[in-house]
This record gives sequence, C-alpha cells and structure tokens, in this order.
Amino acid sequence: MPVEVHLVDHPLVADSLRRIRDKETPDALFRLNLERIGTLLIAAATENLPTEDVDVETPLTTAPAKRLSVQPVLVPILRAGLGFVHAAQELMPVADVGFVGVARNEETFEPHAYVNKLPDSLAGRPVIVLDPMLATGGSLAYTIQLLLERGAPAPITVVCALAAPEGIQRLADDGYDLEIFTAAIDDHLNDQAFIVPGLGDAGDRQFGTGG
Ligand code: PRP
Repeated sequence: MPVEVHLVDHPLVADSLRRIRDKETPDALFRLNLERIGTLLIAAATENLPTEDVDVETPLTTAPAKRLSVQPVLVPILRAGLGFVHAAQELMPVADVGFVGVARNEETFEPHAYVNKLPDSLAGRPVIVLDPMLATGGSLAYTIQLLLERGAPAPITVVCALAAPEGIQRLADDGYDLEIFTAAIDDHLNDQAFIVPGLGDAGDRQFGTGG
C-alpha cells in the first residue's frame, strides 16, 4: 500500500491527546503533552529500523547485542514540527536533523518554503518527518518532494498527532509511498482547512501567533 496509516492506540497517547485538544490547556502544558505524544508515536514509528548484531562487553562477559545499522534523518516541518524534535532526539541522540519551513497561504492554502536545510543526499537513510498536523497534506507533499529529490528511500515515515482524511487521501492520490503514524484521524477539514474537531493551530499553541 503506498500510504499506510498506523493509528497509535495507547492510553498515554489518548490521555495527552485530550490535553492538547482542550482549548483551556495552557501553552506550556500543550507543549509537554505534544512531546509525550511524540515520544510514543516515534517509538512506534521506529519499530522496524534496521539493526545489526554486535557483541558488547559487560562487566562480566561478552553478550550479544544490536545497534542501528543506519541512523535515520529527522525532518521537522517548521514551526509546529519543532514540538516533536526533543522527543525524537531523546530517542535517537545522534540522528541528523534537517529542517523544512513551510507556510500555508491563508487564502489559497498552498504551501511555500521559507527554510530548506536538508542533507544534500538522503540516499540509503531512513527519513522520519515530524509535523503534528496533517490537514490538506499540502505541507507534507511539498516536503516529501524535497526529500525525494535528495534520494530519500521509500517508504518515508511521517509522525503526526492529528490527520484529516482529506489529507491522507490527497497523499495517496499523489502516489507517495508513506508510513504515517498518528494519534487520531479526525472527521474533516473546515472551510479554513482546519482539522475538525482538531486542536486549533499547533504552531500558535506552542509558540504564539508571532510566526
Ligand atoms: C500548519 C501545521 C502543518 C500544516 C498542515 O502549519 O502545523 O504544518 O499547517 O496543513 P496542510 O496539511 O494543509 O499543509 P502552519 O502553516 O500553520 O505553520 P506553523 O506550523 O508555523 O503554525
């Protein structure tokens, strides 16, 4: 399947999802709970990273062990994706982090890039894209294009807190090979392309409206 969606059904994810949906949750708690969701989703999203067998010397003897065969590249989509970076780096401390800044035009909803800071080549390197919100899929499609141009191998992994059915469908229609890990698939997009019921604007709720 070109676009495979993994709904991460976990009590701690559900509990934090309630917090970030709640309009009364202050920004600091929003960030904390978003990061918790990120930790749990990223753990699920990395279950099949390739490993190789090695030996390790314990204080007593030699034990069989494993290490990652290749470090993934983490790609947060600014701004909201920054909310998953700390969680991802806690789990993968030596992974490279590339940045893509994508803003939606508020009238056309079309994405445009204002930051593009990626490794020149992504060949052979698993890529994990971080963005809490998958709404129309425009920002993600734009980012995936940039990653494919640099040779990112398929499938590309995507971690988001909320996804809209319209965005998933659009990415499938575009023919991308993606594994999407999300805490929820919401009902629909409204006429402002906001996810409903959603959580509002994940960038604004983490960083205010200054961006
Ligand atoms: C929001 C959100 C996603 C994107 C999703 O970002 O954080 O990145 O929109 O929408 P799409 O699927 O329709 O492209 P926004 O453009 O508001 O920027 P921000 O993260 O800086 O707030």
